[in-house]
Amino acid sequence: MKRAASIFSVFGLLSGCGGIQSALNADGHAAATLRDLIFLIVGVSLVVWLAVSGVLIWSLFRRRRTPVQNEQATQRRLQLVVTIAVAMTVVIISWLTVASFRVTRTVGFDDDADLTIRVRAHQWWWQFDYEEAGLGGGFQTANEIHIPVGRNVRVKLESADVIHSFWVPSLAGKMDLVPGRENILIFRTDRPGVYRGQCAEFCGLQHSHMALMVIADDEPGYLRWAKAQRADADTPQNVDAQAGMSVFMRKQCAACHTIRGTPASGVTGPDLTHVGSRRTIGAGLLENTRGSLAAWVADPQTLKPGNNMPLVPLSSEELRQVSVYMEGLE
Ligand code: CUA
Repeated sequence: MKRAASIFSVFGLLSGCGGIQSALNADGHAAATLRDLIFLIVGVSLVVWLAVSGVLIWSLFRRRRTPVQNEQATQRRLQLVVTIAVAMTVVIISWLTVASFRVTRTVGFDDDADLTIRVRAHQWWWQFDYEEAGLGGGFQTANEIHIPVGRNVRVKLESADVIHSFWVPSLAGKMDLVPGRENILIFRTDRPGVYRGQCAEFCGLQHSHMALMVIADDEPGYLRWAKAQRADADTPQNVDAQAGMSVFMRKQCAACHTIRGTPASGVTGPDLTHVGSRRTIGAGLLENTRGSLAAWVADPQTLKPGNNMPLVPLSSEELRQVSVYMEGLE
């Protein structure tokens, strides 16, 4: 089972920016229940398939007896076999239906949670609001969340535009984000780690570039992270970063992005207050380095065609300064 899980998790590792992404490599309680259901259904189906194939092969190769003689006995035997097969089919299908119904009814709907995060899906990025004071809330981030291990986390799911689906396979099942409606999903993991998730509902051109990272920390680590996120952005200390900040405020950047502690307060794009602390940019598109920040700002439409970020004309010097500034927003 472990080996199967590790083979499948290779797909998660290949999909970039690290992190486990496999429903078979389950580290969350909800995900483990779903994984057991997967193995139950696959196991039962395998047994049925082997039995049917066995009978088929046996009937192809068995010796034919002389016909007619015992027609009535053969008829009765056939009737019995068919009746047993139908009964077994009904029992097995009912069993799997009830098992899957019970799992989907119970998984991720526990009432209590220690932490609530409001998730708003956009074409094509994730907005996360840690809105409640419990466990240190009161800030917004994008495409990457931290959670404390051993705690139930409730995500309130909503959408700004079309239907998306929140899916972190190693932690929980999928849940849609539907415009005008709020869905709830509760999950929990006891193991620190980096878990990759992605949008699991086709939502347009860049659906495949709508990843998210969930980082499970021990509680002190999580609280440190939350405290740092709640703080306003640091005032840049070096000359390049200061110049980059002034470019950011002067050009269109500040109209769409918020950097808390500065005049930038746009709400169209992701909150960039601590963008430098994130692992990736562009919702899992690129690793977060100064080079990729510069590449993204220089030409977002080539890297991720159709997204809402316009090309802001900058000189190469301004581009360099802006990336230094953003890299420093940790
Ligand atoms: Cu959002 Cu697919």
